[in-house]
Amino acid sequence: MKSPTSNQKKNSISFYIISLCFVFFVVILYGEDFGCILSQSTLKLQEPEEEKPDQILSLQTEQEKDLVVPFAVERGEKECNLFSGSWVYDEETRPLYQEEECPYIQPQLTCQAYGRPDKGYLHWRWQPHDCDLPSFNATFMLEKLRGKRLMFIGDSLNRGQFVSLVCLLHRSIPENSKSMTTNGSLTIFRAKDYNATIEFFWAPFLVESNSDDAIVHRVRDRIVRVGSINKHARHWKGIDIVVFNTYLWWMTGQKIRILRGSFDSENKNITEMVTEDAYRLAVRRMMRWVEQNMDPKTNRVFFATMSPCHERSAEWGGEAGGNCYGETTPIMDPNFWGSCSRKSIMSLVGNLFSGRKMPVTILNITQLSNYRKDAHTSIYKKQWNKLTAEQLANPKSYSDCVHWCLPGLQDTWNELLYAKLFFP
Ligand SMILES: *[C@@H]1O[C@H](CO)[C@@H](O)[C@H](O)[C@H]1NC(C)=O
Ligand SMILES: *[C@@H]1O[C@H](CO)[C@@H](O)[C@H](O)[C@H]1NC(C)=O
Ligand SMILES: *[C@@H]1O[C@H](CO)[C@@H](O)[C@H](O)[C@H]1NC(C)=O
Ligand SMILES: *[C@@H]1O[C@H](CO)[C@@H](O)[C@H](O)[C@H]1NC(C)=O
Ligand SMILES: *[C@@H]1O[C@H](CO)[C@@H](O)[C@H](O)[C@H]1NC(C)=O
Repeated sequence: MKSPTSNQKKNSISFYIISLCFVFFVVILYGEDFGCILSQSTLKLQEPEEEKPDQILSLQTEQEKDLVVPFAVERGEKECNLFSGSWVYDEETRPLYQEEECPYIQPQLTCQAYGRPDKGYLHWRWQPHDCDLPSFNATFMLEKLRGKRLMFIGDSLNRGQFVSLVCLLHRSIPENSKSMTTNGSLTIFRAKDYNATIEFFWAPFLVESNSDDAIVHRVRDRIVRVGSINKHARHWKGIDIVVFNTYLWWMTGQKIRILRGSFDSENKNITEMVTEDAYRLAVRRMMRWVEQNMDPKTNRVFFATMSPCHERSAEWGGEAGGNCYGETTPIMDPNFWGSCSRKSIMSLVGNLFSGRKMPVTILNITQLSNYRKDAHTSIYKKQWNKLTAEQLANPKSYSDCVHWCLPGLQDTWNELLYAKLFFP
């Protein structure tokens, strides 16, 4: 299954003391919402003001050395960094399923159904430099998930990964023994014969915010309660495997608005905090919940790093003023890193999970997704609002360069999840 080795570890540590001026043009687009934020920010990695909206426990217990990793069937290549590799065009084995075969894909992600003319984006396979990914076996995964709950928690990018996993698994389940239901923020796919569920919980900041309604949420004027998680987390009790993500919604510029106290109270105390500091507090709050509610002997925790966007084609040598619209091939420059992915957040994520009582496996999907300027939904998706003549004349103006077509890139994220879950 694997072939040898080399050392890739060194490059996982990087310091970004000062990043200069970034111009973000982040289009946040989900369901019927459409919002654009143009913000200009100078990033400095600052020491956090140790704000403590809730009490923050630091559980820096040393991890047991010979801990048998739950769900593992075999150890993977120790020296192989699965996230360092390249995209290989492979019509034989990709995609892993067809768009029309999977009834669960939301119309925001069914690109072929909405007229995408090219198909190349379907056929790229991720090839790590130093080993091969194990091939995805749906029956095997369902067997391993028997009697278990796997939950994705986060934003619409995480929802895309959830749907991708359901698509990868559902063919192996007979028609009358599966179901998909949504109640508020929680969507549950049930594989009845296996007594297993794959679930998605909408919590774009993980912690409480004013954007928590899964259908009607605010895109502008975001306010976060960095220390509060129980409103969401009471729905997470008893999960066996969890995949967290959170990034896109934090990108409101250099700072984000923080609420102390409840959204219901009359005199709201709202202050601004440097985004990196607020992000750190939120992820720590998440970890505190994880450590109080999950068991390293039987449970697994994953954290997916930021999903990049492709808003400025000049970054990859394209025409000025363009974005992902019309892109049909990946970026081949191995060093490419787009401005949508803040390195300051990446180095935070790299540090937040070390030495924890409950190990967290990082799904470092950022670099490999950064190459995929061709994989976004672009204009090939259900449009909830009628497009104006002006928009129609200029497709890039309404192109979604944040979300990803299914099948597509996010199936690879699940291949990586599969590899890390069973062959860590
Ligand atoms: C997939 O997994 C099932 C269950 O473990 C096993 O019986 C089957 O042989 C596997 N298929 C392949 C192609 O490896
Ligand atoms: C089904 O799975 C749940 C956990 O998700 C477990 O509590 C329950 O006992 C299982 N039921 C059966 C019949 O195995
Ligand atoms: C939806 O969830 C709420 C609690 O979160 C529960 O009270 C209600 O019964 C659920 N509805 C359905 C149809 O399951
Ligand atoms: C709001 O919270 C900050 C930080 O805890 C505190 O310093 C400030 O006094 C509070 N303001 C009010 C009006 O309560
Ligand atoms: C993820 O991978 C990138 C590129 O290889 C690297 O710069 C970064 O440090 C990694 N992040 C984490 C948290 O491992």
